[in-house]
Amino acid sequence: MTTPHRIDMHVDPIDRESSLIADVRGGLSARPRWLPPKWFYDERGSVLFDAITELPEYYPTRTERHLLRTCAPEIARITQARTLAELGSGSSEKTQVLIEALTAQSNLTTYVAQDVSESALLGGMTALADRYPGLDIHGVVSDFSAGNFREGLRSMPHYPDTLLAFLGGTIGNLVPAERRNFFAAMREKLGPGEHLLIGIGLVTDEATMLAAYDDAAGVTAEFNKNVLHVLNRELGANFPVQHFTHVAAWDADNSWIEMRLRAQQALRIVIPRAELTISLNAGEEVRTEISAKFELGAFRGELKSAGFEEVAHWLDADERFALLLARADRIVP
Ligand code: AVJ
Repeated sequence: MTTPHRIDMHVDPIDRESSLIADVRGGLSARPRWLPPKWFYDERGSVLFDAITELPEYYPTRTERHLLRTCAPEIARITQARTLAELGSGSSEKTQVLIEALTAQSNLTTYVAQDVSESALLGGMTALADRYPGLDIHGVVSDFSAGNFREGLRSMPHYPDTLLAFLGGTIGNLVPAERRNFFAAMREKLGPGEHLLIGIGLVTDEATMLAAYDDAAGVTAEFNKNVLHVLNRELGANFPVQHFTHVAAWDADNSWIEMRLRAQQALRIVIPRAELTISLNAGEEVRTEISAKFELGAFRGELKSAGFEEVAHWLDADERFALLLARADRIVP
């Protein structure tokens, strides 16, 4: 193979363990208790997530893919990007549509793919390298949230005429303060006139949103519980996974779906490598993910405050998902 593609590792196993320990100690001692969603994505978790994206109830992925097919040529025409950089690219499955359009219309030379999951990233990169032999593919295994996102984004290489993509609605995993930091870090990363493409879940009817996070086949439940398997394996914890129930709830005040794990009985959990022991009451819940759903106007406002001007957006017919294309302003706010 002649393709220049390479993978940079920015997650040292020791750093990974200390950041997991910090998250576990902080989150599981807090009230309500919580764990950050990034720990779902070990090899099994990434496979489970890919299975979720094919469930009938989980509309975001297929809606976004359909939107991308429709608007990719326009995105290429507007941005004239020569570099596509993607955060949280996972298996890069939807990215092909963008690469196709950018190659045809704007002389795309480079694809930078970032993800926390090395296995998902490698799989996606290999598939792309076979399909686009002329494309320079650069993988980055990292945690983009490191150091309030600034450090996390600094480890991404920056090439000319970048279109930075953050798809899937993953922005919904962040609380508002984190979103602000993340937008600021992205704005710092890009030069004036470069572009950001972001996929967001929109507020729609509650039953539709809830079903997407509580599917009949129970795949989301398995995905949710996977974080306990990760803690058992990586920190020597003793979570009895079979004694937890998957919970999905809509929080209307915060406009987000919450996933939680509920202890079915009183449990004493020992987490040796975090030097932590906790007692869970019967019925007590641990929050494992928020997935915020947005109103387009408010979201556009958040981007504007961070120094991004909306250039275009696309919605599906049911208005459940949006793709927003924004341009970095001349001045960093
Ligand atoms: C990958 C973060 C976009 O929040 O919808 C899927 C993850 N969680 N089902 C989402 C997820 C439960 C997903 N993101």
